[in-house]
Amino acid sequence: MILESGSPLLKHMVNTLRDTNCDAMRFRRILKEAAKLLLAEAAASLPLAERKITTWQGGFVGSFVDESRIVCVSILRAALPMQEGILEVLGEAQGGFLAMKRDEETHESRLYYDRVPDLKGKTVILLDPMVATGGSLRDALSLLSRRSADAILSLNVIGAREGVERVASEFPDVAIHIAQIDPRLDKDAYIVPGLGDAGDRAFNT
Ligand code: PRP
Ligand code: URA
Repeated sequence: MILESGSPLLKHMVNTLRDTNCDAMRFRRILKEAAKLLLAEAAASLPLAERKITTWQGGFVGSFVDESRIVCVSILRAALPMQEGILEVLGEAQGGFLAMKRDEETHESRLYYDRVPDLKGKTVILLDPMVATGGSLRDALSLLSRRSADAILSLNVIGAREGVERVASEFPDVAIHIAQIDPRLDKDAYIVPGLGDAGDRAFNT
């Protein structure tokens, strides 16, 4: 299911990222904050738990996000700032990492590192700022969906329509919360207008 944001604040952030004058430090900071806004849009799908706490007026039972049931997985490299943002909000959640690199010629992604904790009974928040052909997200979802998670949500910043639709049709149960869907890919499978290579932009390479 594709859930493109209507938030003017997220659109503002996406368009700021597109600007070539947005330097790496600002780029990372915006990815981090955009992830928090996307998380707010996805929050109705997070597991909740009642907890008793002590307040200044005594005992109080309230609803909390059950952070112990959340695993936040980033697809390296460009999702690292997003993961930092999510873990600032959900400080007790677990973190996981999938490192993937697109081949420049074939545009197929290749997994070269998989460090994801046990997902049984967990809700996975999968992070990648870019969905171009959708290959990286599809491969990550195929891998994670075999690991008995209760639910998987995807938070993404910019996608090309064809890539996002391809992933959504293969994974109809995954809610894809995305800030902006752009119209197309170019001949090198870059998103147009997009923002260029998010990993390079974020890490000054
Ligand atoms: C980028 C981006 C996505 C992927 C999207 O990563 O961060 O993971 O490409 O493209 P796709 O939808 O066609 O698979 P890249 O492989 O360039 O690695 P990087 O983050 O290390 O730059
Ligand atoms: N990866 C990116 O970072 N940007 C694109 O436009 C496509 C793939």
